[in-house]
Amino acid sequence: MTGTRAGAVGLVGEAIAGLKAYEPGKPIEEVERELGVKDALKLASNENVWGPSPLALVAAKEALSKLWLYPDAASFALRQALAAFHGVTMPEVVVGNGSNEIIGMLVRCFVHDGQSVASSAGSFIAYKIGARSHGRRYIEAPLGADYGYDLDALLAAIDESTRLVFIANPNNPTGTLIGDGALRAFMRALDDRPWGPAGPPIVVLDEAYVEFIDRGERADAPDSLVIFRTRPRTVLLRTFSKAYGLAALRVGYAVCEPDIADYLNRVRDPFNLNAVGQAAARAALADVAWTRTVVAAAVASRVALSAGLRGLGLAVVPSQANFVLADVGRNAKAVNDALMKRAVIARPVGPSGLPSHLRVTVGREHENERVLEALRVVLGG
Ligand SMILES: Cc1ncc(COP(=O)(O)O)c(C=O)c1O
Repeated sequence: MTGTRAGAVGLVGEAIAGLKAYEPGKPIEEVERELGVKDALKLASNENVWGPSPLALVAAKEALSKLWLYPDAASFALRQALAAFHGVTMPEVVVGNGSNEIIGMLVRCFVHDGQSVASSAGSFIAYKIGARSHGRRYIEAPLGADYGYDLDALLAAIDESTRLVFIANPNNPTGTLIGDGALRAFMRALDDRPWGPAGPPIVVLDEAYVEFIDRGERADAPDSLVIFRTRPRTVLLRTFSKAYGLAALRVGYAVCEPDIADYLNRVRDPFNLNAVGQAAARAALADVAWTRTVVAAAVASRVALSAGLRGLGLAVVPSQANFVLADVGRNAKAVNDALMKRAVIARPVGPSGLPSHLRVTVGREHENERVLEALRVVLGG
């Protein structure tokens, strides 16, 4: 082999060879560069178009003045603030470089050879990548007819090898919400099974979009902290990437039992949370008024965008998140390609088994109008 380039063939196992890399929403710069458009509007990654609290920006700038120092590896101040915010203890809070990182940490810690991870086929694709990249089997239950989790199908799909169950609530990419009664019934049925000596699996409630739930409209929305307190082996996943508008800084966290947290911390990369992210997230958490205002704007925008999409004759899935999923009645990737030529970036969700559905993040009024007008032209043409 000396002197020749063998390439990467044979370097990886089957699990990695069969993986497809995560495909994020197209970055604005890429679309502008490749398609020669200007002022592209990105509503593709469920970011918060209103941005973070101004206090978070001040805190981030202050943290920039000490860039030569390693960050606090324990994220002490942020974890202390999160524990107080949720009424839990600090040993129950684990931070991640985005909640995405914690998905991988959970698989690494708790799913061993021959064991599996389960979720819904129409849910966040990172669960599948997290499982498969660690060589673990991924069990996908079919999505329900209402585009929500089919919890009966999920129960039927879970087998004795399953050690982790991921439930995104609200779900991405469909925006649907599982109510408290259904969620608790699912957990009871799961726990009532005759599990072996290792006991029932961990259930991860991924609540990346929890702040956007309209609790007036959905009085049945679960209080996940109560579930966390009552059902052992429940892990809550949260993020600063959505309601708090800090996606660029990569800050997520888990609330879990101290034993589970202890294991997660053993596999956590040292210094996984950068100092700017720690400072900004802490300030953002404290600015409750900003979060409330921004979330109210997003919820109002969700109503308007849903109505606008229905006005175009599209079927829209009722959403409790900061995005809306619409059936465009044809290949959604082609529709998105045409939208990008009009400087609008949305997200086709084919990898979640919904090839004719397009996901659009909620925007400000003029941004919603732009996406609706572009869609009207593309679908009409
Ligand atoms: C359901 C869900 N969970 C987790 C994440 C990851 O968020 P982050 O890694 O930015 O915290 C996302 C991002 O889109 C998501 O939709």
